[in-house]
Amino acid sequence: MKRILDIITANMQQAFADAGYDAAFGTVTVSNRPDLCEYQCNGALAAAKQYKCAPIQIASAVVAKLDANDYDMVEAVMPGFINLKLSGSFLQRYLEEMRLAEDFGVEKTGAGKTAVVDYGGANVAKPLHIGHLRPAIIGEALKRLHKFMGYNTIGDVHLGDWGLQIGLIVAELQVRKPDLPYFDPDFTGEYPKEAPFTLSELEEIYPTASAKKKEDAEFAEKAHVATFELQQGHPGYRAIWQHIMRVSLEDLHRIYDLLDVHFEKWLGESDADPYIPAMIQRLKDEGHAVMSEGALVFPVAEEGDKKEVPPCILVKSDGAAIYATTDLATMVQRMQDWAPDKMLYVTDKRQNLHFEQVFRAAKKGGIVRPETELGHVGHGTMNGKDGKPFKTRDGGVLRLEQLISDMTDFVRGKVVENKIVSDDEVDETTAKIALAALKYGDLSNQPTKDYNFDLERFAAFEGNTGPYILYTIVRIKSILAKFGAWEHLSIQAPTNASAKDLMLSITKLGPTLEAALNTSSPNQICAYIYDLAGCVNKFYHETRILGEEDGNLKNGYIALIGLAKRILEACIHILGFSAPEKM
Ligand code: ARG
Repeated sequence: MKRILDIITANMQQAFADAGYDAAFGTVTVSNRPDLCEYQCNGALAAAKQYKCAPIQIASAVVAKLDANDYDMVEAVMPGFINLKLSGSFLQRYLEEMRLAEDFGVEKTGAGKTAVVDYGGANVAKPLHIGHLRPAIIGEALKRLHKFMGYNTIGDVHLGDWGLQIGLIVAELQVRKPDLPYFDPDFTGEYPKEAPFTLSELEEIYPTASAKKKEDAEFAEKAHVATFELQQGHPGYRAIWQHIMRVSLEDLHRIYDLLDVHFEKWLGESDADPYIPAMIQRLKDEGHAVMSEGALVFPVAEEGDKKEVPPCILVKSDGAAIYATTDLATMVQRMQDWAPDKMLYVTDKRQNLHFEQVFRAAKKGGIVRPETELGHVGHGTMNGKDGKPFKTRDGGVLRLEQLISDMTDFVRGKVVENKIVSDDEVDETTAKIALAALKYGDLSNQPTKDYNFDLERFAAFEGNTGPYILYTIVRIKSILAKFGAWEHLSIQAPTNASAKDLMLSITKLGPTLEAALNTSSPNQICAYIYDLAGCVNKFYHETRILGEEDGNLKNGYIALIGLAKRILEACIHILGFSAPEKM
């Protein structure tokens, strides 16, 4: 469906032409004075310079050429603005078309394209902590947004499952349990099916080993050797690695499920490893990769760089491939297997420089096509309520699972206290409200900005919160349930100001989703549904809906709130949560 702005701009351009002026002056924008009008055109002011006459004269001539049926008000005002208010019949036609169209007629700008969203950023053998909340939530929302806009989407968690972190665990395990068959070079049997550690042991082994590495040079060397041998295919170490993967992945799946975050691909750094040698060879052959101080690097600085962009290091002087190498090799794999048109990475914004280097190397080295869109969504930090870094009472890093359960417990308290649902529905209702509180609390902020986590505020049923949005949906659902079948009812022209405001808000769905996509800003969707929910509630308070005696009018009201409900639900689905039946 065409956007309203495009429709009225086309009409305005026609009116300029009909009045004898250049159509190019007919651009219409959303009004910056909503108290005066809904849309405006300032073209007469610019045209006046070219035609050497008073702007108001042009504006008046243009206004006379517009189709009055489309507007409740169309005015030429001094010095030469054209102010517009859409007519009820225009809005009725437009919303009825939205109601009947697939996905509300939003233009599928991604049709035929593939987008990879790389988000989550989990590492095996380490528990997810609160730093993993934002990349999971923002990445999931951006992926769903791309999908809604027509892209074929692939979400890839890009696990940190390779390299020194695994070598450290192997080395520490060898210190603790030297008799395990994995360490016996003469062992020829089958390795045990059971992992030689539980999840909680594993989560303790890694930090211990990591700390030891800093103090104990001999141990550090052992870990490096183990890493190298693992990557060369040492069978015992590979078997330990498989155990680490299985134990960790089970837990990662469980926690991402709690967040309703789902990856199409659980690939990791290890999956990129086989692509490294050929890639390095080609980059060397083509002269992109050069030796510098014993390391193989890819210079990516460009003329006009405002700050220094150091070369991308491909192979360190000790022979190890690193983070950037893996990211480049992962692009090789993605281009080969999926040929994406777009790759979007969601990580902490402190990785900005890394992605700048990697993207430049990918383009210069021909790893992606010149037109492949590469984007990094660098998110800010989630701080405590006091604005200080989020810490547990003993100064440690809070686990993501703990944060989720803190929110869930708080919301459960409200659900039980307010006797919202019967006992057997408490868990499900609680989970939905808690997830909305957590996700909306995050997503309503611009991704790049830091924000403060405030459990009580995020979980409030009033204000700019997830639960408020859910509450609005639940309110509409209950009216619709009392009414009966409603899906077939048509939209009617507005009969009061709050109905018209609601209709205008609904028309902004398409432009909002498009802007959110183009700027990777789910917060724009939050701002939109907050406005839409406000319009619904105002309409509800100012209009007798079920009590309306005129059956025709009542049907129109029901159709309107039904459409609003479907749009709110579609938007929260993109954001990654859903509404309960009662609240
Ligand atoms: N595992 C990484 C970390 O903990 C994040 C991975 C982000 N994705 C990527 N393709 N580099 O920082």
